[in-house]
Amino acid sequence: MQILVTGGAGYIGSHVVKQLLEATDHDVCILDNLSTGHLETVETLESIAREANRGALRFYKMDLADFKAVAKLFMTERFDAVLHFAASSLVAESVANPLKYYMNNTVNTTHLVSRCVEAGIGKFIFSSTAAVYGEPREVPVKEMTPTDPINPYGMSKLMSERVIRDTSAVKEDFDYVILRYFNVSGADVTASNGTPRIGEWHEPETHLIPLVVKTALGKRDSITVYGEDYDTEDGTCIRDYLHVEDLAAAHLRALEYLGAPVEQSDGPNIFNVGYGHGFSVKQVIETMKQVSGADFTVDKGQRRAGDPALLIADNSRIKSGLKWQARYDDLALICQTALEWERSLND
Ligand SMILES: NC(=O)c1ccc[n+]([C@@H]2O[C@H](COP(=O)([O-])OP(=O)(O)OC[C@H]3O[C@@H](n4cnc5c(N)ncnc54)[C@H](O)[C@@H]3O)[C@@H](O)[C@H]2O)c1
Repeated sequence: MQILVTGGAGYIGSHVVKQLLEATDHDVCILDNLSTGHLETVETLESIAREANRGALRFYKMDLADFKAVAKLFMTERFDAVLHFAASSLVAESVANPLKYYMNNTVNTTHLVSRCVEAGIGKFIFSSTAAVYGEPREVPVKEMTPTDPINPYGMSKLMSERVIRDTSAVKEDFDYVILRYFNVSGADVTASNGTPRIGEWHEPETHLIPLVVKTALGKRDSITVYGEDYDTEDGTCIRDYLHVEDLAAAHLRALEYLGAPVEQSDGPNIFNVGYGHGFSVKQVIETMKQVSGADFTVDKGQRRAGDPALLIADNSRIKSGLKWQARYDDLALICQTALEWERSLND
């Protein structure tokens, strides 16, 4: 197959491209405007493609908002599947600038879906998020747990989900998988020398594990724990930290699932991706101290609005529906790979 990966120069998309190149014979085409992704990541993927010597890799520096360019691309290339990662995904920024999120996430997804329908592309895999549940009404969170986003980022993703589902309901040939990611972290584990070649590279960084990594490496003075009075064992928030390699593998399973319609189940093709258990902020910090051997300053902060005490996926649906199995469910490994990746980055 020829697969279009939007946002393939970013953190999660690049790991999926890497797995496609190393584990399949598909050709991959990355579309990315490099707004938060990196040209260095694309270059690394190009060298991974050469080494794997299986499918081809091509890169289009293009903005999804450039509808003319996207339409032209769909006329000149023949894609069999689209994996759509490109988005803006900073929660605080979405509160300050909601239109950016509705434009880049919802409007651009709507346009992309319409191009796919026009071109007769039947396989669409979408990066959604646990943020669609807001402060979830039950934990572990099931796919049928009511959605109730509490910020424009989560709402822009839920609206995109709706566009995809409503389109599929009337366009028989347009099939989709929506993956709702929990807390993604860690980096490449398949390099022959063990050093991650790609990893999380966000500026600004807002996620806990890379922030703790930067603190352990002395790139930040301290790490702040927001709230120690939650109803959890040590009082800090618990999240379902998912290794990016396991998340990437879920996309490969989703692609196989869309190619095997007989196995499809009833109901929307929406799947949580998480391990079904979590770790507290303090446990993450302790694990990073052990893995890095560094002691660092931990500051106490106030609770942040909209941070639920517990956010854990019920992953039974993806296990049975997509035959997905976790391979890297290990907080120390997640911390280790994130640390090694950050070490490999020059300031
Ligand atoms: N990182 C997480 O923990 C997490 C959790 C849940 C969901 N997600 C979702 O997963 C997807 C990937 O997240 P990520 O962490 O890899 O983000 P990222 O910022 O590293 O990657 C996004 C990529 O999309 C590109 N992009 C953005 N807007 C674009 C546009 N208009 N046209 C072309 N390219 C564009 C960026 O340049 C970047 O390379 C996003 O949709 C995000 O909402 C991420």
